[in-house]
Amino acid sequence: MKIAILPGDGIGPEITAQAVKVLNALGESFELESAEVGGAGYAAHGHPLPQGTLALAKAADAVLLGAVGDFKYDSLERSLRPEQAILGLRKELGLFANLRPAILYPELAGASTLKPEVVSGLDILIIRELTGDVYFGKPRGVRECPDGPFAGQREGFDTMRYAEGEIRRIAHVAFQAARKRNRRLTSIDKANVLETFQFWRDIVTDVHKEYQDVELEHMYIDNAAMQLVRAPKKFDVLVTGNMFGDILSDEAAMLTGSIGMLPSASLDVNNKGLYEPSHGSAPDIAGKGIANPLATILSAAMMLRFTLGKAEQADRIDNAVKKVLAQGLRTPDIYEEGTTKVGTEQMGDAVVKALG
Ligand code: IPM
Ligand code: MN
Repeated sequence: MKIAILPGDGIGPEITAQAVKVLNALGESFELESAEVGGAGYAAHGHPLPQGTLALAKAADAVLLGAVGDFKYDSLERSLRPEQAILGLRKELGLFANLRPAILYPELAGASTLKPEVVSGLDILIIRELTGDVYFGKPRGVRECPDGPFAGQREGFDTMRYAEGEIRRIAHVAFQAARKRNRRLTSIDKANVLETFQFWRDIVTDVHKEYQDVELEHMYIDNAAMQLVRAPKKFDVLVTGNMFGDILSDEAAMLTGSIGMLPSASLDVNNKGLYEPSHGSAPDIAGKGIANPLATILSAAMMLRFTLGKAEQADRIDNAVKKVLAQGLRTPDIYEEGTTKVGTEQMGDAVVKALG
């Protein structure tokens, strides 16, 4: 089995190195091959998603990505910015289903900004559609404003759209995921205002006919954003479009105290996938050896579970992470008094040791 390792920018190389260490310690014969992506891709090959990197990602059975982005690339034109690598990989590999679990480890209950009783035991799964919506809709750009009080001025515009088949396939993923959990699905939309999301609601309702054992609720995005901080444990699985999912998943991540703990999977129709931490490249702490590698290590576990069919190895990693947390080891982002502060490498080493 071939795994493409794309470390990327900022803390990306440091945290991916720890995940690679863990993968190599499992005793499996994975073939790991690395390539530059994001700002690193631009620096080495003049493009955030170099052809060789894309070819490697396509040829591999799974992709493990660190993070992309750095202040120093902010002035590049949009098509050359590091973020384009992520968007390009999603589009080129057809990674339409983004799974972002938000789990609060009991040991980290104090790290949340919410009261422990609101978040303790939190275990929700956000499923974000990843290749449609206003992110990829066309036309888009800057044009002359055709009418209204600003007619004749320049206006920026994007197109929000979802094809029926796009909604159906993400709805199936969500209902099936709910089936494996507590059989409750909340579909999040803005059907009261947007045509796209009234259509979304209608299609999700139709797909629900095939999953009568799952309880379906529809909720507007603004209400969902509020309910997520008011009573997040009322949710089980949430499904939503690309942009709402982008925003809600950051909110959900923060419920758990540290975005440094949360993995994610982006899957295609065959469950081939790209795995990456939910957090960004944190250029402010890059190279300091203090970034939390656990989200990336847990992403490697998701990869073993969903794409590589190695659920037992995934369990080993998940358990090892729980073990190091129970041992009181903490990177600075999750540090509390009475625990032991460790760096990125020490954390990676501790997980390897805890694999048993
Ligand atoms: C994410 C990120 C990306 C997104 C950016 C980097 C393009 O915020 O994965 O959530 O908006 O999808
Ligand atoms: Mn985001």
